[in-house]
Amino acid sequence: MELHPLRRGDAAEWSRLRVANESWLSPWEPSHAIPWRDRHAPPAYRAMRRAVLRRARLGTSLPFAIRVEGRLAGQVTIDNIVRGALRSGYLGYWIDRDVAGRGMASLAVALVCDHAFSEVGLHRVQADIRPENGPSQRLVERLGFQREGLLRRLLDIDGDWRDHFAYGLLAEDLPGGVLARWKQHVPR
Ligand SMILES: CC(C)(COP(=O)(O)OP(=O)(O)OC[C@H]1O[C@@H](n2cnc3c(N)ncnc32)[C@H](O)[C@@H]1OP(=O)(O)O)[C@@H](O)C(=O)NCCC(=O)NCCS
Repeated sequence: MELHPLRRGDAAEWSRLRVANESWLSPWEPSHAIPWRDRHAPPAYRAMRRAVLRRARLGTSLPFAIRVEGRLAGQVTIDNIVRGALRSGYLGYWIDRDVAGRGMASLAVALVCDHAFSEVGLHRVQADIRPENGPSQRLVERLGFQREGLLRRLLDIDGDWRDHFAYGLLAEDLPGGVLARWKQHVPR
């Protein structure tokens, strides 16, 4: 598994993956008037990449592509980073359905969180997750995130305002780092 900045040359492959994964991803994605296929065409990747690179330069986003065995397989991003006394950001991620269930998404999240807590100097990483999203809750819980509350009708997702559990991980929660926690995984 490899993490890297969003590459200009990944537009066609990103589009193919996102279109193929519509039913897997859309229950967890922001509501939108434009049909899925249209807003996941290659020009949408280029626009998204430009926007996140701009935010990355400003220091408000840490956007990464996930590659598994050399193929684009998903994204993990810490966005809406606020510095000052807060030093916090919001985690988002998705992985190709064909790659799910192998620990690759949680490995990507672990590496990005360690980077955020060390080099970037964040104190808190937050993840807001719908109560219906079992795989996502299991991912963050395995990595040591704590559920801190229920945020009512927080985000406009898949056609309506949806409740979300607020999960948080603090820099001091795992003194050995998040990757070390990922490595302790015991198969069920
Ligand atoms: C949420 C999502 C990224 C989770 O992906 P995932 O592949 O299930 O997550 P993981 O990488 O943690 O993999 C889970 C499996 O890997 C195993 N695993 C976890 N850590 C491991 C490790 N260190 N070593 C080996 N295996 C590991 C787990 O046991 C689990 O298998 P199981 O289900 O048989 O128990 C994926 O379901 C997805 O993309 N969903 C759609 C988008 C989405 O919901 N995004 C998040 C919105 S909040």
